Amino acid sequence: MKSSDSMDKRKVPMFYYVIGTIFLAAVLVVCVFSPSNERSVDRLHSDCLCAKGQGTTTEEMEKLHTNISVPPHESNDDNFALLLRKAATDDKRVIITDVNEAFAAPNSMLDLFLQSFHNGDNIGHFLDHLIIVAMDQKAFEKCNSVHPYCYLNEQPGINLSSEKVYMSKDYIDLVWSKVRLWQFTLEQGYSFLFTDVDVMWFRDPFRHISYYADMTIAADVFYGNSEDHNNNPNTGLVFAKPTRKNIEVMKYWREARERFPPMHEQLVYDNIKYELVSKFDLKVQYVSTEYWGNFCQPQKNFTKLSTFHACCLVGLETKFANLKGVTEEWKTYKSINHKS
Ligand SMILES: *[C@@H]1O[C@H](CO)[C@@H](O)[C@H](O)[C@H]1NC(C)=O
Ligand SMILES: *[C@@H]1O[C@H](CO)[C@@H](O)[C@H](O)[C@H]1NC(C)=O
Ligand SMILES: *[C@@H]1O[C@H](CO)[C@@H](O)[C@H](O)[C@H]1NC(C)=O
Repeated sequence: MKSSDSMDKRKVPMFYYVIGTIFLAAVLVVCVFSPSNERSVDRLHSDCLCAKGQGTTTEEMEKLHTNISVPPHESNDDNFALLLRKAATDDKRVIITDVNEAFAAPNSMLDLFLQSFHNGDNIGHFLDHLIIVAMDQKAFEKCNSVHPYCYLNEQPGINLSSEKVYMSKDYIDLVWSKVRLWQFTLEQGYSFLFTDVDVMWFRDPFRHISYYADMTIAADVFYGNSEDHNNNPNTGLVFAKPTRKNIEVMKYWREARERFPPMHEQLVYDNIKYELVSKFDLKVQYVSTEYWGNFCQPQKNFTKLSTFHACCLVGLETKFANLKGVTEEWKTYKSINHKS
């Protein structure tokens, strides 16, 4: 009897272990067998839940497990602090996006993104509060030719202008450097709305940000309750208030990276969201895809949409073509409904 009791006790963790393993295996199967042979630069904004973790083999993953650490602070943080001061609204808000060479190419995503502010519903003024983070020198040059607030996010030893394996350590370091900048922004006392560059803006998305929540995050798929963590988070659109709590959350998030290598920030967030709730009492609001729309759960009611994200589409060209289509639909809607 005694031994079978203790067996039962051992079976419970074993059960979770088995379930966990099956889940991980399922994620791997889904992610590894999705199309993944594109150039890494095209993949920078493949930002749905699965897409961020795909494109590598288990063997590659294991190699990456060995050496992942939180990158050290950089010497050019002062430049970023200066940009924050210049770009912030008087209530200390900034909008941040990031681009690499491919997304910043002429007549590509960055241009379409910037145009969306001019085609939108009185949102052109947000460009005065937008900081564009360039991942490489070419993207930085392009940014400087079209926008006043550009930041070159140089990581020592990382060269993203060359072709890189999507899940290479350099690549992942770069993705995580985004969260480091988020933390830095909060530490400087600014709230930020981070937007992927493949998000088209139609209306002021701040109208859907809750004062109540510490963070407001987009959803790949929204299940109806904005406080429910089971909504699939999408960190392509994230707002955070500059609170001590949020700074601790960013630190915790970045440190959690070591527990879930080699995952991107969005997948790690999805893994630790309940820890964040229990440890920090983190309050998150997820925004309905009716308002912060996307191709994962497309509901194109232009009366409601603030933004539209090329999420759940793979490849820069596909994203660009589809976003162009949505932009045209928006213009048609606007010409019929806003005769001013
Ligand atoms: C891991 O990092 C340590 C110290 O940074 C280094 O000495 C070691 O060679 C690295 N290992 C691999 C497999 O890259
Ligand atoms: C990055 O890699 C590209 C292609 O391999 C090379 O031409 C370029 O000089 C490299 N840049 C740096 C800063 O090392
Ligand atoms: C779009 O949203 C508006 C405002 O809520 C609503 O009145 C309208 O019926 C919706 N249109 C469609 C096609 O669902």
